[in-house]
Amino acid sequence: MTHPIPQTMGQQFGRRSWAEPWKIKMVEPLRMISRKERQRALEAAGYNTFLLRSDDVYIDLLTDSGTGAMSDRQWAGMMLGDEAYAGSRNFYHLEEAVRTQYGFRHVVPTHQGRGAEHLISQTAIKPGQFVPGNMYFTTTRLHQELAGGVFVDVIIDEAHDPASLHPFKGNVDLARLEDLISRVGAEQIAYISLAGTVNMAGGQPVSMANIRALRQLCDRHGLRIFLDATRLVENAFFIQEREQGYADKSIAAILREFCDLADGAWMSAKKDNLVNIGGWLAVNDDALFDELRNLVVVYEGLHTYGGLAGRDMEALAIGIEESVQDDHIRARIGQVRYLGELLTDWEIPIVQPVGGHAIFLDARRFYPHIPQDEFPAQTLAAELYLDSGIRSMERGIASAGRDPKTGDHHRPKLELTRLTIPRRVYTQAHMDVVAESVKAVFDGREQTRGLRMVYEPKYLRFFQARFERL
Ligand code: F0G
Repeated sequence: MTHPIPQTMGQQFGRRSWAEPWKIKMVEPLRMISRKERQRALEAAGYNTFLLRSDDVYIDLLTDSGTGAMSDRQWAGMMLGDEAYAGSRNFYHLEEAVRTQYGFRHVVPTHQGRGAEHLISQTAIKPGQFVPGNMYFTTTRLHQELAGGVFVDVIIDEAHDPASLHPFKGNVDLARLEDLISRVGAEQIAYISLAGTVNMAGGQPVSMANIRALRQLCDRHGLRIFLDATRLVENAFFIQEREQGYADKSIAAILREFCDLADGAWMSAKKDNLVNIGGWLAVNDDALFDELRNLVVVYEGLHTYGGLAGRDMEALAIGIEESVQDDHIRARIGQVRYLGELLTDWEIPIVQPVGGHAIFLDARRFYPHIPQDEFPAQTLAAELYLDSGIRSMERGIASAGRDPKTGDHHRPKLELTRLTIPRRVYTQAHMDVVAESVKAVFDGREQTRGLRMVYEPKYLRFFQARFERL
């Protein structure tokens, strides 16, 4: 049972406007270089926004990862770093914060999300096993494959349709999962990899009803659920907004209820948890923890720092506490939705409903004349940078990479360009400027030509690939 999706924050919270629950204490100057300089910078970067220098960028919407602003409390915490090699007091603060807010018993810090993905994949996947998940994420799937796993997408079909208004497009298609289990046998399944929200689908949430049903299915077959908790606080916001019975529950309570249905989680703390670097892995099972605590020493560092300085762990512990506050998350998603409303009013094709961390421009509908093999979403990111110095990210065929068996491109249904909003960094006026630039690029769309890839790295090619204009 779900509520209709409010189109504006005003509809949800009454007529009065919302505002950020903070004010600005320190500023960082921005600079916009000329169009000629941007053209030169773009060519030097091989039309890949990952290869631009940040000094050449005006508004940076490449990612919400590690780009947020820390609070004065977090900065004060940085001064309380206990830089001991072993048993730093900041680790125990972090452990307590994860246990309290996410509810898992054992915590292993890592340098960032993919460090945790590596550890869980190496310990919980046997070569040849399947790893069903609600849509792939680039680093997550790669680590599963490097451990010998085979990723299987079991997200509902609506997730692949940018126009579908399904309120929980991150949900698992339980029939599809059941079918996989009956075909290959439960012992051939490593675990369920469940992300909330789903990044590649447009920041779309998973409902509580879905994970509850998933838990029951997994209990019947003796399967574990591990969460990608990177943006799970944002997921909790959508449950509070859209799912019957949650309107009066706090974000913190919803987060705990969700996690209590899983066996563990990995985290890129650079997102929800409001730090510039950091990650963690948390599980309930003692034996698995024992293995993880051993393996972390090989790749990250001792199990009480996992690649982080004491001060980083302190900022992270405080960030976790701040991230679950209702007024924080409401303003965070309110800003994303504000930008979405501007673009929707101008009839610019974006993934609907607007998700948690970003606006995803639908490059297929933006450039219907550019075939997918000519990288429409990459083209759109380049055009946006040329127009205004705004940096965005391709989330289409370049990001999807190649099938490891056939060597052909994965050709995802979603061909998107992501305008990712850093947390607590930009103002509403910045969002206006972004919307106007997207509109200008949209108005010139018919003249735009696609790209061809002239350099392709072996792993995660989108980060370092180079392109030329056709
Ligand atoms: N899982 C999700 C859902 C992510 O979005 C990311 C990173 C990771 C795992 C990996 O974490 O970067 O700390 O190693 N996403 C970034 C992005 C890079 O821009 O979406 P990491």
